[in-house]
Amino acid sequence: MNHFDHKDGVLHVEDVAIPAIAAAVGTPVYIYSAATLRRHARVFREGLAGVPRKHLAYAIKANPNLAVLRVLADEGYGADVVSVGEMRRALAAGMPPADIVFSGVGKTKAELAAALDAGIGQFNLELEEEGVVLAALAAERGIRAPATLRVNPDVDAGTHAKISTGRKENKFGVPIDQAAAMFDRLAPLPGLNLRGVAIHIGSQLFDLAPLEAAYTRVGELVAELRAAGHTITHVDLGGGLGVPYKAGDMPPSPADYGAMVARVTADWDAELMFEPGRVIAGNAGVLLTEVIWVKPGVVHPYVIVDAAMNDLARVALYDAYHDFVAVQPNGDRMTANIAGPVCESGDTFAMGRDIDHVVSGDLAVFRTAGAYGATMASTYNSRPLVPEVLVDGDRFAVVADRVAAETLIAAERVPDWLNEARE
Ligand code: LLP
Repeated sequence: MNHFDHKDGVLHVEDVAIPAIAAAVGTPVYIYSAATLRRHARVFREGLAGVPRKHLAYAIKANPNLAVLRVLADEGYGADVVSVGEMRRALAAGMPPADIVFSGVGKTKAELAAALDAGIGQFNLELEEEGVVLAALAAERGIRAPATLRVNPDVDAGTHAKISTGRKENKFGVPIDQAAAMFDRLAPLPGLNLRGVAIHIGSQLFDLAPLEAAYTRVGELVAELRAAGHTITHVDLGGGLGVPYKAGDMPPSPADYGAMVARVTADWDAELMFEPGRVIAGNAGVLLTEVIWVKPGVVHPYVIVDAAMNDLARVALYDAYHDFVAVQPNGDRMTANIAGPVCESGDTFAMGRDIDHVVSGDLAVFRTAGAYGATMASTYNSRPLVPEVLVDGDRFAVVADRVAAETLIAAERVPDWLNEARE
């Protein structure tokens, strides 16, 4: 459930009519619903009611806007971060350092040091050498770094190849059958408090079976580690729960997921950690766009909108589907292609799709754009970085500015020798 509904023929976000946002901020613009974020945060937590000890770390890569993070911090969520930049955002949004988990396959030494100095709650190690380096950095500071070892269970999560992370050929984690030996070598290091294991097998998961298989293998590993004398207090089960992008999509509910987790982990006696991203933010946001032209096509007309692949990259990258809905539909339908202004044929959001009838100047939204939307935007074709708006009841605020071409140009310069050559 979300708070994007037509009222009196006009699409609203909570109590705000979308044309009011377009008039105030212009298009394209991402719009988020605070009520939807809060609802998803609560539904996910309630789904895990059967898990006695848990830590919820929102995967802020999905949507790292400061205002979004504040809403989730106020819901008691910490953060899963994958760079020092994300860590700084989580801290800036008011998340306690102890609630932050640092994941990521390529943490630099400087990043590990900065995270230690910030006092973050847990490092999820991706390789043995990282543990050795982290232990040394922590020992220099006279502390022990809380850490888990991320394991790769070699399961096929059944999702798009580019967002699958738990197969043995993927770059993530250590092979699960080598984990116990690495644990034996890392756990004694004085700078490490190697207290558990972590896992994340992929994103936009629609099937609980691979997750259950992976968690089951982790449970076996935990038993093996304990039998070898290790103290295991934390297991990070990652994120990945899918969301519906189109009518008829039926991902497992947080309650289904939570019931599976409670069953599989019943005798684990550990604090379980979760890193949900998309399931919190995905359907809490839309990308608002204006139709520039409806261009006749050979087979279908092209609806050319002012949002493009640089603003919402998911379609070009993963052939993703984003619903396209007119803000003020007139009841008619049309079959059309939808494309942006960027000079690539890949800048196409849909081909031959049945959509609301639109004409030049109409407003429309791409739905389910709250996760992996604005955060993956670029300025390709020197297009401004797309702004973001947060709606909360009958209020809205610009929570990220449109970064104009002038600002980007101001960060560049022509070297002196090229200027001198002109004199
Ligand atoms: N934890 C780790 C270690 C992750 O790598 C990810 C996502 C998450 C948690 C959160 O997964 P979620 O709950 O959001 O599925 N850009 C792609 C998605 C990439 C996901 C990368 N890792 C997309 O637009 O579909």
